[in-house]
Amino acid sequence: MINTVGVIGLGTMGAGIVEVFAKAGLSVIAVDGSAELAERGKGFLEKSLGRAVSKGKLDEAARDEIVGRVSFGDDLAAMKDADLVIEAVPERLEIKESIFTTLDGIVREDCVLATNTSSLSITEIARATKVPSRVIGMHFFNPAPVQPLVEVIRSVMSDETLVEQVRELAERLGKKPVVVGDRAGFVANALLVSYLARSIRAYESGLASRSDIDAAMAAGVGLPMGPLTLCDLVGLDVIHEVCGVLYNATGDPSVASPSILRQLVTAGRLGRKSGHGFYTYDGIGSGTVVDDAATTAPAKPLEGKVGLVGEGDLVDALGSELSDAGVEVVRVVSADDAASVKGVAVTLAVDAVELDGDCCGGGCCGGDDASHGDVESGLEIGAKPVLRAVRDAIGDAGVIAALGEGSVETASTGDPTIDATVVPVVLHEKQRAGQVLEIGRSVAISDEAVETVRSLAVAAGWTPVVGKDRAGLVVDALLYPHLNDAAKMLDSGYATVEDIETAMKAGCGYPQGLFELLDEAGPDDVHGVLAEMYFETGEQHLVPSPLLTEHILADRTFRG
Ligand code: 3HC
Repeated sequence: MINTVGVIGLGTMGAGIVEVFAKAGLSVIAVDGSAELAERGKGFLEKSLGRAVSKGKLDEAARDEIVGRVSFGDDLAAMKDADLVIEAVPERLEIKESIFTTLDGIVREDCVLATNTSSLSITEIARATKVPSRVIGMHFFNPAPVQPLVEVIRSVMSDETLVEQVRELAERLGKKPVVVGDRAGFVANALLVSYLARSIRAYESGLASRSDIDAAMAAGVGLPMGPLTLCDLVGLDVIHEVCGVLYNATGDPSVASPSILRQLVTAGRLGRKSGHGFYTYDGIGSGTVVDDAATTAPAKPLEGKVGLVGEGDLVDALGSELSDAGVEVVRVVSADDAASVKGVAVTLAVDAVELDGDCCGGGCCGGDDASHGDVESGLEIGAKPVLRAVRDAIGDAGVIAALGEGSVETASTGDPTIDATVVPVVLHEKQRAGQVLEIGRSVAISDEAVETVRSLAVAAGWTPVVGKDRAGLVVDALLYPHLNDAAKMLDSGYATVEDIETAMKAGCGYPQGLFELLDEAGPDDVHGVLAEMYFETGEQHLVPSPLLTEHILADRTFRG
């Protein structure tokens, strides 16, 4: 029975792990490299418990009892009494190996050696010790007191009874263990950090601003925080190290540490813990963002009415939503009504049109079917008489926001002045953190038109996300490769659907698992957007998993 645990390294994760053990009633020996670092670790514990006291979730006596279970120091010799020692030192193999080699000469023979490594090989760490069979991965998630997941990682040398002991311990701590083999990034980080690396690269390439990338995933998908905010929480140095491990293991350029990440780490901008990362914070260790040079100016208030073109339930719902938000709406359902939108600030056109076949009666593209490419559906401005009439009524200056489902293809009218005022938009489902209206921008579209649509979004109570007009815009462009990775991991036989769902929900606070999201979006839609993204960029990681194709052909979802 494990009753006394040692924790080595009292940074963000180590201190969190100390809290988890001490709260569960275990005695904890907490050690860091110097008396000051040990004192800092004690400070982290007291701060975290203090937060619970101030919220009335813990009384002062209980707090003192928890702190009293922990002895803080800077001498590894204190580990001689431990039943299990877990290290949470920086992600460098040589540091971990050296600690485990030293522990060999200190701990009891029956002591389990655990590592909280984010991605390094448990097998390699185990080989540095005299008894590799007692080395197990025990991987917690940030913030450790909050996230329920513990990945229990076995190497091929691990003693299975110890693996089971560690799994049971995780359950005693009130955590959700997932037992997996030794592979770079295990389940959660292999999926999460690949997605984070791609999000950083999307930011670096100017796909969208940092706040729009974060809003896309928080308000657009419902994740607890956006990817760049999460990088700052976890620590950019940690993400950088994990990217390196993933890249070395897979050779996949999409997971290599992005240039901006390397620059920030080199500059000492490590996220919340240094007060600067992708965002600037009001102090070291704070999560409160303050404005800096990269802060996006808020949208200007919308002036005037909004035209709403189209018929059907969705259009009716949008009409009431806009009216409820205090926006004056002019409805256009037939070409005869079109003149009524003259002078409105922006017209929201909701009208999905099949593009294959004679989509526009020859009126918008001269009947040249080749110009449609492989796009299957979308909104084509000018495709329907009512839209042409609206176009004529509002003149060159009026803006048309063309709403599509997931993607929008706007056809050129042949007149650049008119094209500059047609903005593709996608409205996502409402989430806890808001509802995203994605807005595409391109060289053909004027900045003023994009700004007008941003104002419309804010007036309607939606969260605007402006991104380059590329396949998947921002939300699907970040989400679908993440879902594809989950399908590839499943196909590789490393983890089950259940393992992957638990890892992302219990480790990263996802309200839905990746397969739930995949089934909801539909394997065919995910496949289609990935194929378009691959066609645009040629990036290998975007090739849809064969398991997606298999599910489409069998007309099956992943969760049955
Ligand atoms: N330490 C301790 N407790 C914390 C905390 C911290 N740093 N941050 C938040 N909490 C607690 C709060 O006190 C609160 O507790 P309560 O419900 O008892 O009052 C609870 O968490 C919720 O906090 P908030 O209400 O302040 O804020 P949110 O609801 O926005 O939740 C969050 C904050 C838990 C961080 C949530 O945004 C989240 O789950 N984000 C995703 C985090 C994630 O993905 N973690 C995994 C990263 S990968 C990793 O760690 C692996 C590594 O190897 C890289």
